[in-house]
Amino acid sequence: MKGRDKMTGTLARSGNLARIDRLRAESTLPREEMRTLLLTLTEEEAQYLYENADAVRRQHYGRDVYLRGLIEFTNFCRNDCLYCGIRRSNRKADRYRLSEEEILECCDRGYALGLRTFVLQGGEDPFFTDKMICRIVSGIRTGHPDCAVTLSIGERPRKSYEAFFRAGAERYLLRHETFDPAHYRLLHPAELTIENRLRCLRDLRETGFQVGCGMMVGSPFQTVDHVLEDLYFMETFRPHMIGIGPFIPHADTPFKDRPAGTLEDTLHLLAVIRLMHPRVLLPATTALGTIHPLGREMGIRAGANVVMPNLSPAGVRGKYMLYDGKICTGDEAVQCRRCMQERMAKIGYRVVVSRGDSLVDRRDRGTEKGSGVS
Ligand code: 5AD
Ligand code: FES
Repeated sequence: MKGRDKMTGTLARSGNLARIDRLRAESTLPREEMRTLLLTLTEEEAQYLYENADAVRRQHYGRDVYLRGLIEFTNFCRNDCLYCGIRRSNRKADRYRLSEEEILECCDRGYALGLRTFVLQGGEDPFFTDKMICRIVSGIRTGHPDCAVTLSIGERPRKSYEAFFRAGAERYLLRHETFDPAHYRLLHPAELTIENRLRCLRDLRETGFQVGCGMMVGSPFQTVDHVLEDLYFMETFRPHMIGIGPFIPHADTPFKDRPAGTLEDTLHLLAVIRLMHPRVLLPATTALGTIHPLGREMGIRAGANVVMPNLSPAGVRGKYMLYDGKICTGDEAVQCRRCMQERMAKIGYRVVVSRGDSLVDRRDRGTEKGSGVS
């Protein structure tokens, strides 16, 4: 999203302010208007965009920020996504798996720290059969019945998703990565397709999960038109959660020399997404905190309402390297949790001890517009 037009002057500026007002009022913009907004937004106008996104977020979630305890339980992966540091062809990755006991211990520790949602994230690792995943999920639910379990373990058959749901998992994160099939093929090996990714997302939703999708900002070959496709796909799909963060190169991948996505583009998109999905759960991601020391704080101020402290045992953290420079790899869970609380408090938000369920689909808390939809 380069190419800010220096020649447009005040007329275009008020044009963008008007576009932001319309985006807030209608929760969408026609394609050409959105395109112009993304391409010509000045940093001054961006402040106005953030203020509006923050105000809409506050109507639904106040100044509460939800915590999700992230447990990166395996970095084995059968996939070979070109951007990802734990892709199977990266021989340099030091592979690990947590045992079922270790995963449950992470949750116990997280519970004591006030976490009420656990996100089990891993590479696509066939070692963890459906049966094992179900056992882990029901183990967590039995030990901590007041907690939610989110799975983020990639593409599986519908039957597997149904089994996970029956075992007690209620949420599933599976970024669509990019909606454009040709762009998808540039980021992934041939055996992965956007069609199957979308099949998974639909299966998950039909199974009853709260579903999260999303994409990287500034991924290689991404154009503004791809981003528009992503925005309008998500508008139709209406996910409960949307995960976006900047692409960051990893030295041992084919994209090692590609530039990272920018802070500005990521913040702009977070705010646009908040205005399009007033009730969505929107994390300020670790990747955003990696490209700027205050990235997550800025993300919250631009409309995000979730942060994900890392609960993985300190010994394995440095090994779950999707991209270079990942933050929080040296900290213990307790430090990460405290750090998060302090960071949020500093900017006037508070982390809450709550499952933090999505308000999407929920009609019991009307908006000012009384629309009852996200
Ligand atoms: N930079 C930023 N995000 C990445 N992911 C994978 N590799 C990278 C990278 N190099 C994201 C993908 C994936 C999520 C778990 O992490 O979007 O869905
Ligand atoms: Fe993990 Fe700050 S949030 S160390």
